[in-house]
Amino acid sequence: MTWLAKARFSFLFLPILIEAAVEGLVKALAGGSTCSYTDISSLVPAAEAFIPKFYNAINDLQPLGAFYTSSCEKYTTPPSITINGHVLEDVSKFEFCLKTQSNGLTNRVVHEVQSLDAQVLNPKYINGAPDWVVQQVASTTGPSGPAKDRVDALSIMVQVTGLVKYGHSTDREAPPPRNFSEHIVLVPNWNAVGKNAQRGGRRWLIQSEIFRAL
Ligand SMILES: *[C@@H]1O[C@H](CO)[C@@H](O)[C@H](O)[C@H]1NC(C)=O
Repeated sequence: MTWLAKARFSFLFLPILIEAAVEGLVKALAGGSTCSYTDISSLVPAAEAFIPKFYNAINDLQPLGAFYTSSCEKYTTPPSITINGHVLEDVSKFEFCLKTQSNGLTNRVVHEVQSLDAQVLNPKYINGAPDWVVQQVASTTGPSGPAKDRVDALSIMVQVTGLVKYGHSTDREAPPPRNFSEHIVLVPNWNAVGKNAQRGGRRWLIQSEIFRAL
């Protein structure tokens, strides 16, 4: 990615994300009763941290495996990836599609996020969770340990809308840009929580992704 593209990307995100954070927090507080002890304010920051990295990786044709539940052995079913109505078998198929679409050139097909929203899908998500997380979630009084030992056992639905641009602006043969809408379900990376957490591991992983160019 050139510096120009990078700068444009982060400028593009900043106001949107601040807006999304405030909006998400208000929503979360309004519906907070289902999450008695989960720190709900971590929800939108979780999506904020994840989404720009994910689309940067897509635009850069980077390996995407680490973004999906298939990178955590605690999840036994593969992630669900649906692109324009086509169900892809695995992450490598998606990578292949992206490479093909952009002729193997990075930042040739560029996804720009224009809006982002996040909400809790399941406030007590324990699929594949280690026992101590299951106990925390089952506890009516909340976790007794220090805050750093608590975990947001949630699944989060992230809704993204944006624009896909094809080719350089000077390339007359490139197809016109298209709006897209994407729904992503994020679940905890169980390898990134607790005392034995992987260093630098992603906190959230994609369990399901539905992308549509409009
Ligand atoms: C994308 O959506 C916006 C808002 O609905 C619309 O104004 C714009 O023309 C659309 N752009 C494309 C390229 O379809």
